[in-house]
Amino acid sequence: MLELPRRDFLTRASLGLAAAFSGILTLRSDADPTPESGDVGDYGGYVKEKKLPDAPQNGDWNPTENNILGPFHRKGAPYRAKIGPPLSKGTVMLISGRVWAHDTKKPLPMAVLDIWQANHDGRYDNDDPKAPPAKDVFLYRARLLTDENGYYEYETIHPGRYEIGKGVWRPSHIHYMVRATAYRDLVTQLYFDGDPMNDKDDFIKKSLIIRMEEKRVAEGAYERGTFDIVLAKT
Ligand SMILES: [Fe+2]
Repeated sequence: MLELPRRDFLTRASLGLAAAFSGILTLRSDADPTPESGDVGDYGGYVKEKKLPDAPQNGDWNPTENNILGPFHRKGAPYRAKIGPPLSKGTVMLISGRVWAHDTKKPLPMAVLDIWQANHDGRYDNDDPKAPPAKDVFLYRARLLTDENGYYEYETIHPGRYEIGKGVWRPSHIHYMVRATAYRDLVTQLYFDGDPMNDKDDFIKKSLIIRMEEKRVAEGAYERGTFDIVLAKT
């Protein structure tokens, strides 16, 4: 388990974000760091794991398999932990996982995950060439950074399937592009156990299918799943 001192982690995080925004925003040289807010505790019944696992959830230390990029990736999605807009139609999903190093078998902090998916109706925000999205509008797309324990988490909705040819449908999936310094870039996709199109798809790989668990809370139900990623050393 990797434990970065909090100050060290925050410094690295701010340097990374400063680099990402260089040329757009500049922090005043006399600016103070934002004060700590303390422990966020339990929100809505979901409690941060107290004991972190020491291996990927499926026990597989092989580098995560790649998968096709597809035609719908867009560069420059904002950093946020909610992929779709507020009140998006569809079944709410909470997905989390950790990014691991294949060589050291330790989690990788500060890995960048670039995530994109179709909406509930199986549409990407850029799939209609006649109506392209504004360049600063990113729907069902986000980037995330892993924390000091290699952990990431986001909320989204279950993506819709879409037709890629007459009667040929892609199963529900979420695209991932993962980058970490000194590790090989990974372009892959996450699939869901039980999707009726899984058996008919030409691109799906068995190792990329996760099982979702239904969680019931007072307000309704949502799906919960874990997708751990192992990166190969460059
Ligand atoms: Fe796709």
